Amino acid sequence: MQDVMTSSVSSSIDYPPGPRSILPNKLLRRFLHDPIKTLMEITRTYGDISHFKFGRQQHIYLLNNPRYIEDVLVKNHKNFTKNKTRQSTKRLLGEGLVTSEGEFHDSQRRIIQPTFHPNRIKTYGEIMITSAARMCQQWEDGITLDIHKEMMHVTLAIISKSVLGSDIKSQDEVGNALLTCMEYSNRVLMPFGQLIAKMPILPVNKAYQRAKKKLDLIVYSMIKEHRDKESKGTSNADLLYTLLRAQDAEAGIGRMNDSQLKDEVMTIFVAGHETTANALTWTFYLLSQYPTEEARVYEELCSVLGDKDAKRIPTVEDIPKLEYTEKVFRESMRLYPPVWTIARQAINDYKVDKYVLPTGSIILMSQYVMPHDPRHFSDPDLFYPDRWTKEAKLQIPRFSYFPFGGGIRGCVGEPFAWMEGILLIATICREWKMHHDPDHKVELKPLVTLRPKYGMSMTLERRNER
Ligand code: HEM
Repeated sequence: MQDVMTSSVSSSIDYPPGPRSILPNKLLRRFLHDPIKTLMEITRTYGDISHFKFGRQQHIYLLNNPRYIEDVLVKNHKNFTKNKTRQSTKRLLGEGLVTSEGEFHDSQRRIIQPTFHPNRIKTYGEIMITSAARMCQQWEDGITLDIHKEMMHVTLAIISKSVLGSDIKSQDEVGNALLTCMEYSNRVLMPFGQLIAKMPILPVNKAYQRAKKKLDLIVYSMIKEHRDKESKGTSNADLLYTLLRAQDAEAGIGRMNDSQLKDEVMTIFVAGHETTANALTWTFYLLSQYPTEEARVYEELCSVLGDKDAKRIPTVEDIPKLEYTEKVFRESMRLYPPVWTIARQAINDYKVDKYVLPTGSIILMSQYVMPHDPRHFSDPDLFYPDRWTKEAKLQIPRFSYFPFGGGIRGCVGEPFAWMEGILLIATICREWKMHHDPDHKVELKPLVTLRPKYGMSMTLERRNER
C-alpha cells in the first residue's frame, strides 16, 4: 500500500502487523472511499491477521483465515456483539433478529429458525415463480432497462407476499414506505449521515418518520387481522401466520407479542429482499459477460423444462435438477457477495494465535476478500461455476466461502434465498437473454450490501415466441 509503513506499535500490547498511516484518519478516509480495495490491499500485504486504527481510538483487526473466522462466528460467538454503530438500523428494525443481542436474540432465533426450514418454505416457491413470470410478461423484446431496479421490485413483491399473504393493497403500501425507509437508512450510513439524522426538521427526516409510522401501522393492523383469523380457526399459509404461532415449548419460550412480531416482520422485509436482488443482478451481469456459461444455463433449462426451448415454467420440484444453475448462483455470490463484510466487537480480551485482541476491539471478516484468495480458489477473479463440484464443496475450508455468515447469527433466511435465486434465474433465463450495455459503467457500491453503483443497464432479447 502507498503512504503506509509497517511498524510495531510502541506499547506493551503486541499488535499484529498492519498499515500505520502517517496522517491520523488517512486510512479511515481511504476506507470510506473504497473499503473493499483497502481491505484487499491490507490482507495481501499483512496476511491472515492484521491490525490498524481508525482515528486515534478504535482498534480494528482484520481476519482472513477460515479457522479464525469460524472461531469468532461459531465456536466463541458468545464473546462478541455486533458492532454498536448500527443505531440507524435499530431505529428501523427495533429488536428484530438482525439487531438484537444476547439471550433475547438467541431465544427469538430458536423460535424463528424452524419457520425457515426448507420443507416449510416450499409454499413460497409458487409466489417466487409467479412474481418473476409476471415481471417477464411486462418486458418487451429489445428494451433496455435497469435490471437492478427490476430485481429490487420483484424481490420486494415476493417477500411482502410471502410474509403478508394475499393482501395486495398492503403489499403496495408496504413497498413504497419500505423503499423510503431503506433509502434513508443507507443515506445515514454514508459519511456524515449521522449529522443528517440529528436534524429532525430536514425534509428527508420528516419523510422517513412518515414512512416508518405508516409501515408500523400496516404491520400492526396485519398482525391484528391474522390474530383475529386464528381465533376464528381460519388459517393462512403466510409467514406472518407461521411466526405468530411459532414457539418453542421444549425450551419454555412462548409466542411473540405484537411488538416483537412487528420488529421481526420489519427485519425480514429489509434483510429478505435487497440481498437477493443484488445477488441476482450480479448473476445476470456475469452471465452477460460469459456467453458459454450463459448458454449452459439455457441448455440445462431446456433439458429440465422440456423440449428444445424450455417450454414449461419451473416448479420447486425442479430445483434439485437445476445443478448448473445452482453452481452459477453460488459462484456469483463468491465474486459478488451481497453482504461483503461482517463486523463483531469483543466483549472480553480474545486470543488469536499469539495475539491478544483487547476488549472493545472491532473484528472484521470479509465475504469478498476471503473468497478472492488464491490459496482457496484458483484463478479467483474468474467466473467459473464448474469449480463447485461436490468434492470441492467438501474439501474447501468451511469459512473460505461464507456469503450467509455462520453460527447462531448466520442468515436465517438462507434456504429462502437459495430457492428464490435458483427459481428466478430459471424463470427469467428460460425466456430472456440479457446483453450488458458496454457504455454502462459497472462499479461496486459497498454499503451494508454490495450494490452496483450505477445500476445495471441491460438490453433484453426474447429467446423465442411463446
Ligand atoms: C442472497 C441472499 C442473502 C444473503 C447473502 C444474506 C446474508 C446474510 C448474512 C451474511 C447475515 C449475517 C450477518 C452477520 O452475521 O452479521 C444474514 C443475517 C440475516 N438474514 Fe440474510 N441474507 C440473504 C437473504 C435473506 C433472506 C431472503 C432473509 C429472510 C427472508 C434473510 C434474513 C436474515 C436475518 C433475519 C438475519 C439475522 C439473523 C440473526 O442475526 O439471527 N436473509 N444474512
